[in-house]
Amino acid sequence: MSKKLFITATGTDAGKTYVTALILKKLIQSKINAGYYKAALSGAEYKNNILTAGDADYVKKTANINASLSEMVSYVYKNAVSPHLAAKIEGNPLEMQKVKNDFEMACRKYNYVVMEGSGGIVCPIRIDEKEIWLTDIIKELNLKTVIVVPAGLGSINNSILTVKYMQNLDIEIKGIFLNFYHFNNIMEKDNKLMIEKYTGIPVIACIPPNADEINTDIKNILTLFDN
Ligand SMILES: Nc1ncnc2c1ncn2[C@@H]1O[C@H](COP(=O)(O)OP(=O)(O)O)[C@@H](O)[C@H]1O
Ligand SMILES: [Mg+2]
Repeated sequence: MSKKLFITATGTDAGKTYVTALILKKLIQSKINAGYYKAALSGAEYKNNILTAGDADYVKKTANINASLSEMVSYVYKNAVSPHLAAKIEGNPLEMQKVKNDFEMACRKYNYVVMEGSGGIVCPIRIDEKEIWLTDIIKELNLKTVIVVPAGLGSINNSILTVKYMQNLDIEIKGIFLNFYHFNNIMEKDNKLMIEKYTGIPVIACIPPNADEINTDIKNILTLFDN
């Protein structure tokens, strides 16, 4: 049985892909057989005439993962809008069974699978004759999670709202990564204390701008994957 972890965030552009890449880089450098999966990506761009899943491409290169982009991401939309709207415009709405199959395939290939979410935690994936939200996928795949929170003004509000919303849905949160963190900034230091105290969730690591590694022992990363 492979170990799994779902990466969500307080919003889009919070650094899910960036942090996921650093987590996988650390695992792979520690000789752990680890891979990446994402159910739905929007805002894909053409590279050499091929619609390319940018998140997977970035993680693959940063962490040095040997996989095709098509096995790393199940649904790739061109429009840079929520997947539910992209699917309305482009067709190809997400089927839960395909996500389950593709995720299982990743789990057969790797001992550790890191799955990146789309957007923040409240993300409509498909709203037509079927209704699927990101949280339905997390629950269907039975995943534990971590949250990426950009440090700065508003981060206490954003993190507490995200944690309470997830806890209302009984989604387990193993930790928080504070991204874009400045170690000498008094407000960001306070962010860390306040977020830990009022969410009860530990901050696993603080990641400064342009970090090329996660500044914590690999053991602290591995425990995030435990049941
Ligand atoms: N710690 C960081 N240092 C420098 N750039 C970062 C950092 N975290 C994220 N970024 C940049 O910010 C943008 C958004 O990050 P990304 O990981 O793509 O967010 P998400 O996956 O949550 O949408 C990207 O251009 C990414 O390279
Ligand atoms: Mg991303």
